[in-house]
Amino acid sequence: MKLLGDWLESNSRKSGSRIILAADVGGPLETRLERAASLVSAVKERVVAVKVNWHLLLPYGVLGLRGFVERCGEAGLPVIADMKLNDIGATNVEAAEILFSNGFDALIANPFVGYKEGMEDLLEKSREMRKGVIMLVYMSHAGSKDGYGLKVGGEPLYLGFARKTRSWGADGAVVSSKSPSIIREVRSILGKEQVILSPGVGFQGGDGRRALTAGADYLIIGRSIIGSKDPVKTVEGLNRDLGDRGS
Ligand code: XMP
Repeated sequence: MKLLGDWLESNSRKSGSRIILAADVGGPLETRLERAASLVSAVKERVVAVKVNWHLLLPYGVLGLRGFVERCGEAGLPVIADMKLNDIGATNVEAAEILFSNGFDALIANPFVGYKEGMEDLLEKSREMRKGVIMLVYMSHAGSKDGYGLKVGGEPLYLGFARKTRSWGADGAVVSSKSPSIIREVRSILGKEQVILSPGVGFQGGDGRRALTAGADYLIIGRSIIGSKDPVKTVEGLNRDLGDRGS
């Protein structure tokens, strides 16, 4: 099994894409999964991974999503559970084991919880299962500065989280596309093999090209694709506009 960073890189080479599809399909619960599956099937050769959030995790749960996750895997796409996991080690490990033994390839966690008896156990479990953990370093919503931007010891919290992402050996970080200067700072801290996933493009006003140029590796995009009339054309257009790493 490939490590997350290598898997994304190899998919990106094949597809020429830097997009992680946020499969945040809304509307009637009865048909959500079917619609999410159709969406993935339509764009599977044009994206590098699929991210699943509460939109699907809550109504269907891990067991209900097995077929969906399996189909993503058959299409060669890693599936990332966006839980922003934030609990004690034992609970984090339980969540990770359930997700990873049911086909999920990576999860997003919140470094705020700290290492000892928090992230340490989760990171060990993930390594043991050869799965990915991505740390939340700077979020894309307007209020992010109130938390991740708080100054602690004279520097914003996100810088400390970026250093922890590196020293803890996580697979990468989530940093908002709306803050290219922060992406640049985080990029300078992370190791070469650690990826930056950047949400907030389009719907939230972020500029994907600028984010990639600043050092993001992949863009997490949901509503701009899902809400468009023709998701395939939208993804193709985004891939074209973004070019190779926005260069
Ligand atoms: P759209 O493109 O619909 O995508 O705005 C939103 C998806 O991305 C997630 N998201 C984030 N996840 N840190 C994260 O870990 C963030 O800063 C962030 N901003 C958006 C969001 O939960 C949704 O799934």
